[in-house]
Amino acid sequence: MRYMKFFLDTCDIGEIEHLHSIGMVDGVTTNPTIIAKSGQDFFSVLKQICKIVKTSVSAEVIATDHKGMLREAEALLKIGKQITIKVPMTWEGLKACKQLSKEGHKVNVTLCFTPAQALLAAKAGAKYVSPFVGRLDDIGQNGMQLIAEICQIFNQYPELSTEVLVASVRNVNHMIEAAKLGADVATAPPKVIREMINHPLTDKGIAMFLKDWEQVGQKV
Ligand code: E4P
Repeated sequence: MRYMKFFLDTCDIGEIEHLHSIGMVDGVTTNPTIIAKSGQDFFSVLKQICKIVKTSVSAEVIATDHKGMLREAEALLKIGKQITIKVPMTWEGLKACKQLSKEGHKVNVTLCFTPAQALLAAKAGAKYVSPFVGRLDDIGQNGMQLIAEICQIFNQYPELSTEVLVASVRNVNHMIEAAKLGADVATAPPKVIREMINHPLTDKGIAMFLKDWEQVGQKV
């Protein structure tokens, strides 16, 4: 079945556990900023996430040269099969991507801001390419337009296995627009996934049903 996967863009174990238990988590992404802000140990938090999520957990390398990236990847891959190595959109990153993909590992090429960069990630054998919609919106550009263009290109080649992973998601509208465009994955902070359920008429309707039911005095 083809449908948009939801990844959680967080290392908050409580949130991952909760949303995973409701079936809302198809994977997790992290980045150095997310880990640094959490104040947690990188390896220890990744191990905890991997106990819950068995599909894909993106862990980003810090090295800027491909040999260093491969060394870091080797250590990270020992954590579990679900570890997806996240490399930056640089020639060194793409070199590491090519090598890791050839060895059968999943690679997420991050910090993608143009269709041309997405093509390079696909060429290097990436499992995922991560175009950042929110950061483009922040500088007055149209993040979803980038997703539309990458999806249009990738859809020309059904045999292409690189998935479009919409990143830097800031709101529910980004999720809806990503799904409308047929993106493979969207990674969002837990807050955005939680907000997806909200509608005042849903709350009003529940209150009304409960009130009306209370009046008949029946039991289920
Ligand atoms: C995920 O893979 C990205 O690192 C993340 O979505 C970036 O989000 P931000 O632009 O809100 O920092």
